[in-house]
Amino acid sequence: MIAINRSSILTWLQEDDPFRLEELWREADRVRQAGVGDEVFFRGLVEISNHCRRNCTYCGIRAGRTGLPRYRLTQDEILECARQSAAFGYGTVVLQAGEDPELTADFIGRVTARIRQETGQAVTLSLGERTDGELRAFRQAGANRYLLRFETSDPALFRRIHPPLAGAGRNRIEMLHRLRALGFETGSGIMVGIPGQSWTSLAEDILLFARLDLDMIGIGPYLPHPDTPLGRRAAKNAAIRTPEQVPATPLMTCKAVALARLACPLANIPATSALESLDPEHGRESGLRRGANIIMPDLTPPACRPLYSIYPGKAGLAEDLEQTGARLQAMVQKLGRRIGTGPGASPNWCRRTGVTPG
Ligand code: 5AD
Repeated sequence: MIAINRSSILTWLQEDDPFRLEELWREADRVRQAGVGDEVFFRGLVEISNHCRRNCTYCGIRAGRTGLPRYRLTQDEILECARQSAAFGYGTVVLQAGEDPELTADFIGRVTARIRQETGQAVTLSLGERTDGELRAFRQAGANRYLLRFETSDPALFRRIHPPLAGAGRNRIEMLHRLRALGFETGSGIMVGIPGQSWTSLAEDILLFARLDLDMIGIGPYLPHPDTPLGRRAAKNAAIRTPEQVPATPLMTCKAVALARLACPLANIPATSALESLDPEHGRESGLRRGANIIMPDLTPPACRPLYSIYPGKAGLAEDLEQTGARLQAMVQKLGRRIGTGPGASPNWCRRTGVTPG
């Protein structure tokens, strides 16, 4: 047993002996199996728009980035991606976008209802900070889940990398509570290694996962994007690494995933594309072996995929959808795990709402 408290989390985050880390990996894998089982669920990710009104300093689709062609999929294009996801046997579609004002409650409500009716899949939304009215409309239309990473639990760091938007935008923690109250399976997450992220703040992030009683947790490494203010600064300061700075490495990301699993045994946790992008050979696999149970293959139409450039070097850009799916399925089987069927609701959400899993 590994206890989850501030000091044990800090100790594990700073542990670099591969033999001792084996204990963390073993324990995360054991808790994953006991909590969510051996099934790995696939979610079809559709990046429906790269328009964004925000200026997050790390993100490659920020409003201030000029020269990036912007796109927005039509209802029919989104439906086509959802059918593709169903044809691959996936039980969930994830609709993700920048904070695009044209993606109104009406637009999202209609496309969500159509996906639910026509394909029977669960729908996860990841559309940034939204009003309570919009969230209610999404839920009424049949959306099952919502993802909103809090990115960091350190309020000063959060403010530095998220310039506020006059008259709009909201407190993400408060929004996560609203999502929960509205009945959504509620997901959040962080980036590991944001410039200015300290060990204690990363430890606090993991404790916050548990306090929020999250149903889904996404954790990826921070990847500097050269066309962003933070990415340019990170490149200039590459040689200066203070002892307090958490490194944005695959190993550190895996430690955060493993500790998140110990903190939230029943949550759905993806092996993220950002982790795969940083470590194309082993990223996804090491995530799955160290606490994760979800994979989100990118089903965005190939012409749009490179334009959804939140970070550089996104994995899988060169592959077609069938290739990616086949490669990921083979990897799951090699690990001795099964591919999940059906919507794969979060066991944590099932527990807290009294819904029978399955
Ligand atoms: N590096 C890594 N992750 C990023 N995200 C956005 N920009 C980057 C980046 N440069 C992540 C954020 C966001 C999610 C959709 O993608 O955590 O919540």
